[in-house]
Amino acid sequence: MKYDLGTGEEKNWIVAESSFSSNLLGKAEAIMSLGNGYMGLRSAAEEPYVGEVRNLFVAGTFNKSDVMEVSELPNAADVTRMNIYIDGERLDASVRTEDYVRALNLKTAELRRSFIWTTSAGKQVALKFRRFVSLDNLHVIGMQMELEALSDDVHVSVESGVNAQVSNSGAQHFFEGEKRIYDKKYVEMVARTKESLIDFMFHTVHHVTLAGSKLNDPFMRMDRRLIMLSYKGTLAKGQKFSLEKLTTVHTSRDKAFDGLTLKEMRDRALSTLKKCAAKGYEGLFAQHVQAWEQKVWKQYKLNIESEDVFDLLAARFALYHLTIMTPAHDERMGIAAKGLSGEGYQGHSFWDTEMFILPFFIYSNPEVARSLLIYRYLGLEGARKKARSNGYEGAMYPWEAAWPSDGEMAQEWGRVDIVTGKQTKIWTGFIEQHITADVAFAVWQYYKVTGDQAFMDDYGYEIIFDTARFWGSRLEWDEDRGQYCINDVIGPDEYKEHVDNNAFTNYFAHFNMQLAIKYYSRLKESDSAVFHRLNEALDLDQAMEAWMECIDKIYLPQPGEDLVIPQDDTYLTKRIIDLTKYKNQTHVNTIFEDYSLEQLSDIQVSKQADLMILFYWLEDKFTHDVKIANYNYYEPKTIHDSSLSLSTHAILANDLGDRQLAYRLFRQACEIDLGPEMKSSDLGMHTASIGGIWQVIVMGFAGMRMLHGELRMDPKLPEHWSKLEFMINWQGQRLEAEITKDRLVIEAMDRVPVELEVYGKEYRFNDVLTINLAEAKGERD
Ligand code: BGC
Repeated sequence: MKYDLGTGEEKNWIVAESSFSSNLLGKAEAIMSLGNGYMGLRSAAEEPYVGEVRNLFVAGTFNKSDVMEVSELPNAADVTRMNIYIDGERLDASVRTEDYVRALNLKTAELRRSFIWTTSAGKQVALKFRRFVSLDNLHVIGMQMELEALSDDVHVSVESGVNAQVSNSGAQHFFEGEKRIYDKKYVEMVARTKESLIDFMFHTVHHVTLAGSKLNDPFMRMDRRLIMLSYKGTLAKGQKFSLEKLTTVHTSRDKAFDGLTLKEMRDRALSTLKKCAAKGYEGLFAQHVQAWEQKVWKQYKLNIESEDVFDLLAARFALYHLTIMTPAHDERMGIAAKGLSGEGYQGHSFWDTEMFILPFFIYSNPEVARSLLIYRYLGLEGARKKARSNGYEGAMYPWEAAWPSDGEMAQEWGRVDIVTGKQTKIWTGFIEQHITADVAFAVWQYYKVTGDQAFMDDYGYEIIFDTARFWGSRLEWDEDRGQYCINDVIGPDEYKEHVDNNAFTNYFAHFNMQLAIKYYSRLKESDSAVFHRLNEALDLDQAMEAWMECIDKIYLPQPGEDLVIPQDDTYLTKRIIDLTKYKNQTHVNTIFEDYSLEQLSDIQVSKQADLMILFYWLEDKFTHDVKIANYNYYEPKTIHDSSLSLSTHAILANDLGDRQLAYRLFRQACEIDLGPEMKSSDLGMHTASIGGIWQVIVMGFAGMRMLHGELRMDPKLPEHWSKLEFMINWQGQRLEAEITKDRLVIEAMDRVPVELEVYGKEYRFNDVLTINLAEAKGERD
C-alpha cells in the first residue's frame, strides 16, 4: 500500500496501491471500501478476479439464511461488476499491465483506478475507473469507466447491470423478485430476504458513448437473479469509450418507505434514479463532495502537523471509516464489528461500539452517539429475553447483537481445535457478560459529556436500572470470602474462559450498580413522572434494596504486595511460557498453531487489553504506581491478537508517561489496517481499532478526559508532532483546541463558560483560553 501518492491538494489524502497484486485483493477491497452508513460497498475491481469478495451491505437488513443460522447482514446484489472484453479478450489487470494505480481519495470519498493494458495480440488501451457511494443521497452509487484506444481498430465490449447471484460465503438470503427494464434503459431488480422479508430494490441506468456519440439499445441478457446489458463498438486510435453507471439501492426498512406497498416503493426508487440520471455522475459527485466537506472534514476538524505524513493520513483514514461504518440515519441500527466492509462477524455489534467507537461520537457528534445508544435502548427487548432465558433478571445484553429484539446472536461453534481436532465451542455469547455494564457505562459517559437530560429520561435511566437489575441477580455469594463474586465469565481477554472474578467485569458491574443506586435516589427524591413510570415497570424499590445490600460487598480484586492486581482468581497461578515468537508474529493468532484455546487458559498469556482498559476508563480508582506495575506485568504477556488491544495500550503508555512507547503503539494500531500485513483486513475493517485511533490522538496525546463530570486535558504530544488541532462537544457547546509544543489554545465557540483542568490546575473561560504548557507543567511538578 502507498500513502504518499497524494501531492498538492491531495497531499495526505490518498490511500493507494501502485501495482496490481492478487495477494492484496481483500485488503484493498476493505480498506478502500466506500459507503455512507446506509450501505457499504467493498472496493472489488469492476472486472472479476479469483479470490475477490464482492460485497454490498445495507445496514440493519439482517436475515437468517436458515433456522440453524444466526441473523446476518446479507450480501445484496453486485452492481459494480463489469465484463470487459477487448478484441474478444477478457480484461485482466494481472497480466500485461502498466502504470496500475488504485487510489481512494479520503477527502472526496472517491475510488479511482487507472492502468494501461495490452492484449495478447499487442493492442493497447488505457482504462480509467471512478466510483463513489454518495453521502448526499444515501441510496446512490455512481460509477464511471473510460477506455481510450492506444492502438487502431480496438473492439470493445462491456457488459454491466445488476447481478444478484451472490451469497454470504455460500449462504443464500434472498427470494428472487421481479426483474424489469423501463424505457429500454432503467434496469430494476427486486429481491426479498427469506426470513426477515425485507424487500430490496436495485435500479440502475447506463449512459454510454463511443467516440463521442451516444450508444443506445444495448444487447440485454437476463438470467436467474441477473440482468446485464452489453455495449459494443470499435474505436480508432485516440478514440474513447465512456460508460457512466448510476445505481440506487433501497429497501423496505428505509424509514421514508414506512407504510408503502412494494409497488409504491419501487416507483419511488425508480423516480429517484431518474432524477439522478438527470444530474449525471459529475452533478451527483459534486453534491457528495460537498456533503463530505460539511458533515465530516469541517465538522470534525482534525489536524496533525507531524514530521511523518503517515500520522495525519491515519487520522483522516479513521474519520473516513468512522463515517462510512456508522448508520447515523437510523437509530434501529448499530455499528458492525467490521462495519459494512466485509462478512466478518456477520454484521453484528459488540462492545467495540460502546468502548471504542462511541467515545468519538459522544465528543464529536453527539446526535449520532444518541442514535447508537437508542439502538441499545431498543435492544433492551433482546437483552431482557437473554436474561430470562439464562435465569436472570433485568437486561443482559447480547455479546453479539443484530436485530434489537433478537437477543444473543453469537455463534456457538468456532475454529477447529488443533489438539482434539474438534470444533471449539464459542462461549462468548454465554459468559462474556461485561458487555452489559459496558452499555450502561456508555450511557453514563454520554450523559456526563452532553448533559442530555431528555435522553436519560426517555432511555438512559431505564438502561442503567435494568442492567443493574441483571447484575443484582448475577452476583454469587462466596461464603469463604464473605463477598459477592461473579464466577464463570470471560473478561475482555478472551484467552481466559470460565474464570471467576475477572477484575474488569467485577469493577464494571460494581460501577453499573453504583450508578443505578445514585440515579434511583436522585429520581425518587424528584418524585417525577419518570421515576414513577420506571419504578412501576422495573420494580425499582425492591431492586434498590437488593443493590444496597450487595454494593459494598462486591469483590473488587486489589493489588498484591507487588502491586499486581489479579486479572481473575487464577491468572497469576498459571504457568509462564516464552511468548517471544508470538509477540513478534507478523499476523495474529499464530499461537493457535501450537496451542488449543483450552491450553491457553492454563498459560499466563492474554489476547488483548483487559486490566489496561479498566485503568483507562476508571482511572481514578487506581494509583499511578499500581498502573505501572500492572502494565509491566501484563503487557509482556499480551500478544495483541485482538485489534482492540493496541490503542488501549497506547493511551495507557501515554498516561504513564512513556511518550515514545505510546507513539510506537499508536503506529502499530494504525497499521492493523494500513500496515503491510496482506490478509489482516480480508474479512473487513477493524472498526474498534479505527475508533481507537481517534481515542489515542485525543484521549491519549491530547490527554482529554471526562472525570467525575469535569473536563481535563493533559497534552503529551509525540516528539515529532508540532501541532494537533481537534474539536469536541462539551455540554452542548463546540470547543476547538490547538496544541503545540508549548501552548494549548482552546476556544468556546458559543461563548458559554467552560471549566477545564490542565495539568491539575483549574481554568474557567468563555471565549479563548491560552495556556503556556511549560509553565503549567512546571507549576504542577
Ligand atoms: C475480540 C473482542 C471483540 C471482537 C469483535 C474479538 O476478537 O476479542 O474483544 O469484541 O473480536 O471485534
